[in-house]
Amino acid sequence: MTTTSESIMQLEERYGAHNYHPLPVVLERGEGVYLWDVEGKRYYDFLSAYSAVNQGHCHPKIIKALIDQSTKLTLTSRAFHNDVLGEYEKFITSFFGYDKVLPMNTGVEGGETAVKLARKWGYEVKKIPSNCAKIIFVEGNFWGRTLGAISSSTDPSSTNGFGPFMPGFELIPYNDINALKIALSDPNVAGFMVEPIQGEAGVVVPDDDYLLTAFNLCKENNVLFIADEVQTGIGRTGKMLCCDHHGFKPDVLILGKALSGGVFPVSAVLASNEVMLTIKPGEHGSTFGGNPLGCKVAIAALEVVKAEGLVENAELLGEMFRNEINEYAKTSSIAKLVRGKGLLNAIVINDSEESETALNICKLMASKGLLAKPTHGNIIRFAPPLIITSDQLMAALSIIKDALREFEK
Ligand SMILES: Cc1ncc(COP(=O)(O)O)c(C=O)c1O
Repeated sequence: MTTTSESIMQLEERYGAHNYHPLPVVLERGEGVYLWDVEGKRYYDFLSAYSAVNQGHCHPKIIKALIDQSTKLTLTSRAFHNDVLGEYEKFITSFFGYDKVLPMNTGVEGGETAVKLARKWGYEVKKIPSNCAKIIFVEGNFWGRTLGAISSSTDPSSTNGFGPFMPGFELIPYNDINALKIALSDPNVAGFMVEPIQGEAGVVVPDDDYLLTAFNLCKENNVLFIADEVQTGIGRTGKMLCCDHHGFKPDVLILGKALSGGVFPVSAVLASNEVMLTIKPGEHGSTFGGNPLGCKVAIAALEVVKAEGLVENAELLGEMFRNEINEYAKTSSIAKLVRGKGLLNAIVINDSEESETALNICKLMASKGLLAKPTHGNIIRFAPPLIITSDQLMAALSIIKDALREFEK
C-alpha cells in the first residue's frame, strides 16, 4: 500500500459514512476481466461488483450506447413519454418472454416493486381481504438494505437497531419443501419470493428439485412465484436465468445488476398482464426508472450477452473452475468444498464463520493480483466477468491455489 492509495482511503474514512469495510485496494480503471489500482497494479476481478459486471468492465458496445444516448437525452421522468422506453420494453419482454416490464433502477427497488405487485394482485385477483396479504421469504435471503428488504432478513447485521419492521412477511427455512407446503396452505399468501441460488448467504445452492417443486406448489395454491434473479440472472449461472436450469418461468422476475453491465443502475420487474396491470397510473414508480439512458444501456448489455455467447461461456468455464478446485480440495486442509453454478461459485474454507481466514486469504490473493471478497468468515465468492477466457481462468486459478497453499496447515 502506498501513499496514494493510503491518502485516498483516508479521505473516505474521514468524509464518508462507515457503512462498508472494503479491502484496502483503490481502483481507478477497468477493462474486461481486469482492474487496475492507482499505483498501476493489475488484478483479475473475481467479484464483478457483486455480479453486475457480467459483460466485463467498460464493455465498448455498452459504453458506446451510454455515450451516444447521453449526448441526446438522459432523463424526462415518466411525466412524459420518451422515444426509447417503448423500444426497450418491447425488447426486454420478448427477450425474457413476458407480457410486461416495470422499469426501476436498483435491485432492491425491483424487489420492492415485486412485493407491491404481489400484494396488489393478491387483493384484486386472488381476493385476499384488505391488508391481510402475506409474502413468504426464506431464511438467509438478501435483497438489499431498504426497510422492506431488511424486514425479511435473518441476518442480525442487517436488522439490529433498525426496527420496527414490515408486517405481512413470513420466513421459512430455505430448501425445505415441507415448510413451504405448510406456509402456502394459508389462503392469504400472495407471493413466495426466493433467490434461485442465495448469493450473499454464501452461494447456497438448493437441492436440484427444490425450485421446480416450489414453483408447482405455488401454482397449486394460487400463489405468485417471485424469482429474485438480481444476482443469478443474465448468464451468471450458465443459463440466461438460473430458473432455466429447472425448466420453469417464474410469475414475477426481478432483474438488476448485469442488466446494465454495471454501467448504470437499471433494474426491471417482468410479469404477465394479469399481474402487472393491477398497478394503475400514480400507484408506483420512480423519477429515473425507464430513463432513455438506462434503456439504451440495458438493450446493449443484453445484446452483448447473446452476441458473445456469455451464457455458454459461464457454463463451460464454471465447470472448469469447480473441477480444478475440487481436485485441489481433495488433498487440502484449508479448502473444504466448492459449490455453485456457472460462474457463481464459492469456496468454503475449513475454519469457523467467526474466523478471519477467508478475509486473510482474500488479502493475500489481492497481493498476488486477484480480487475476491468473503461473504462470511469462512466463505469466499468467486464471480469473474463472464467474458473470461479459459487461459485467463487458468491463470487466475493458479493465483487462487497459490494463496490457499500458504494457508495449508
Ligand atoms: C439477490 C439480490 N437481490 C437484490 C439485491 C439488491 O440490489 P441493489 O444493491 O442493486 O439494490 C442484491 C444485491 O446484492 C442481491 O444479491
